Amino acid sequence: MNVLKFAIDDGSTNVKVCWLDNGQIKRLTSPNSFRKDWKSAALRQTNSVYNYLIGNTKYTYDATSDKALSTTHIAYQYDDQNLLAVHHALLQTGIAPQPVEIVVTLPITEYYNPDDCQKNEANIQRKKDNLMRAITLNKSELFQIVDVSVMPESLPAVLSTLVNSNVNPLTKSLVIDLGGTTLDMGVIAGEFDEVSDIYGNKEIGVSMVTDAAKKVLAAADSDASFLVANELVRRRTDTDFIEQVVNDETQIPRILQKLEEKIDELGTQVAYEAKKFCKNPHRVYLVGGGSSLIVDAISNAYPSLGDKVVQVDNAQTALAQEICIYHAAGAE
Ligand SMILES: Nc1ncnc2c1ncn2[C@@H]1O[C@H](COP(=O)(O)OP(=O)(O)OP(=O)(O)O)[C@@H](O)[C@H]1O
Ligand SMILES: [Mg+2]
Repeated sequence: MNVLKFAIDDGSTNVKVCWLDNGQIKRLTSPNSFRKDWKSAALRQTNSVYNYLIGNTKYTYDATSDKALSTTHIAYQYDDQNLLAVHHALLQTGIAPQPVEIVVTLPITEYYNPDDCQKNEANIQRKKDNLMRAITLNKSELFQIVDVSVMPESLPAVLSTLVNSNVNPLTKSLVIDLGGTTLDMGVIAGEFDEVSDIYGNKEIGVSMVTDAAKKVLAAADSDASFLVANELVRRRTDTDFIEQVVNDETQIPRILQKLEEKIDELGTQVAYEAKKFCKNPHRVYLVGGGSSLIVDAISNAYPSLGDKVVQVDNAQTALAQEICIYHAAGAE
């Protein structure tokens, strides 16, 4: 029997899933928002309730809860919430639960030993063991994970870009991955001949902007969940959307100005860290959900690179997509 394969970039704020369906690549993004205990049945039949049990602990998916558990710590990679996030994302594919093989990701500084850039086999094994643990979904079926492989975050996102861009073994490519809560960077030599340096920073992420958005919304009588604040950052030029979420419309200019300030600040910080980490790369690739917010700041930081500063297509799902293509090619 052919076991289905999924590439899963299980980030701290969103799980990105890619798989092949009749040779066509499918992608989806599943936001992480779990809290302890169970929800009661939905009033409307169309709203599914996801009540999970791991050991003796009950969890539920709750998109709007203020009590959503934090996933921004490194232990997230090896704990209950990661197991929940991966199973929950698989259910969103609409495919009937069945045995599956998955490829997941670890932050670059967990996957490699920071001192010598060699694989950290202990961390990799720990992540695999975590995802093979037992979990149940109340009144419904879950996928059975029969095999787990692990890839590093960030770097593989540019695999096919590098292979198609005529780089020579001496070309140094800097990959910058700005996610919801972390900034990860790595330097690749040639087409992927070597990973020569890695960097991880858990203080810098899109959440700097999202948190500010939450605050200014609250000041305009419009308390918002993290998801709504996120949506506002993404759709900040969409007037209709803004008017829907902001009650006190006189505050709209102030809100937008605050967002732009925070986005600028984020860009400045990322550019500063990038220059410090890798002063003179030959190319720069931007991936991750936050990349569109910082592309100008990075271009300005590396003025002589011109169009060699590239925001990768589908930046948020690029990693999952490349892992999917890479594993599909390997299996043939
Ligand atoms: N087009 C966009 N414009 C602005 N922000 C965006 C856009 N697309 C996604 N984001 C934001 O990017 C963040 C998620 O990015 P991503 O999925 O790369 O993070 P993650 O992998 O979960 O986090 P991390 O890598 O830090 O663990 C969210 O805060 C989301 O709102
Ligand atoms: Mg990520």
